[in-house]
Amino acid sequence: MQIKKVGVVGCGLMGSGIAQVSASFGYDTVVREVSQELLQKGLESIRNSLEKFLQKGKVTEADRAATLNRLQGTTRLEDLAGCDLVIEAVTENLEVKKETYVRLDPLCDRETIFASNTSSLSITEMMMTTQRPDRFIGLHFFNPVPLMALVEVVSTLVTSDEVKRTAVQFAKSLGKTPVLASDRPGFIVNRLLVPYLLDAIRALEEGLGTLEDIDQGMKLGCGHPMGPFTLLDLVGLDTTYFIANIMFEEFKEKRFAPPPLLKRMVLAGRLGRKSGIGFYKY
Ligand code: CAA
Repeated sequence: MQIKKVGVVGCGLMGSGIAQVSASFGYDTVVREVSQELLQKGLESIRNSLEKFLQKGKVTEADRAATLNRLQGTTRLEDLAGCDLVIEAVTENLEVKKETYVRLDPLCDRETIFASNTSSLSITEMMMTTQRPDRFIGLHFFNPVPLMALVEVVSTLVTSDEVKRTAVQFAKSLGKTPVLASDRPGFIVNRLLVPYLLDAIRALEEGLGTLEDIDQGMKLGCGHPMGPFTLLDLVGLDTTYFIANIMFEEFKEKRFAPPPLLKRMVLAGRLGRKSGIGFYKY
């Protein structure tokens, strides 16, 4: 199947990155947010990102103009009707996602592929709210989307082979490397990454070292691009807390249980970069 037009539902941190990459790599892209205010904020972050790439010589002025030309913002879900692929990146809440699919399903062609960017929720549970379980897949991008090379392609028991092939091809066409995973909470990356991040918080709680020293240790000792606390602030402490709870719920293993410090920080609104303060101040 040939993908020409892509819809993205949600223009937050992940949705805006996905819409940007999709438009940059030649797809006509429609991105939808619930309000004009959120839409403008998301489109602004795309413009900022393109500006950085332009300044660094990673794109030309013509590339930037062409990307913005291929990108259409909207607040109407109906405007996604003509898309061949719709990628959903709304808030990580199963009820909100299910409601989105219930509304989207009758608007789109039967052939349209639905892909969720969820990092932890069940693709199977979402797909069952639609009449197209065979044409439903997970496409999990990584933050920051324009810079990160990986996409997890997540199949369920009933995803068709054609949809899998199309999703893999689509990820490659965005310059990303796809890996295949099955529909279990956390897929591959978060299954391994989340216990590591939670362990770093537990180590800090136990007084093993300072934030800075733990970060520096993992950065220089393991060659990671950032230490665990810098990464936690990038991912968002609320997002990490949410994913950890889902994984703990599923596996009932201690290593997925969110440590008390994480919960207290989320309750206090210290969510990381997005709130201006997390483990570090921004
Ligand atoms: N668009 C354009 N530029 C961007 C950007 C974006 N969206 N986001 C950040 N940048 C820029 C920054 O502004 C910065 O530019 P300046 O140096 O000019 O200020 C630059 O990118 C960062 O450059 P650095 O030299 O610091 O680092 P880098 O380019 O070598 O790598 C990185 C940056 C790719 C983010 C790297 O630090 C990295 O790989 N970090 C780990 C990120 C990671 O693990 N992400 C996965 C999180 S888990 C997840 O997403 C899954 C989930 O479900 C929770």
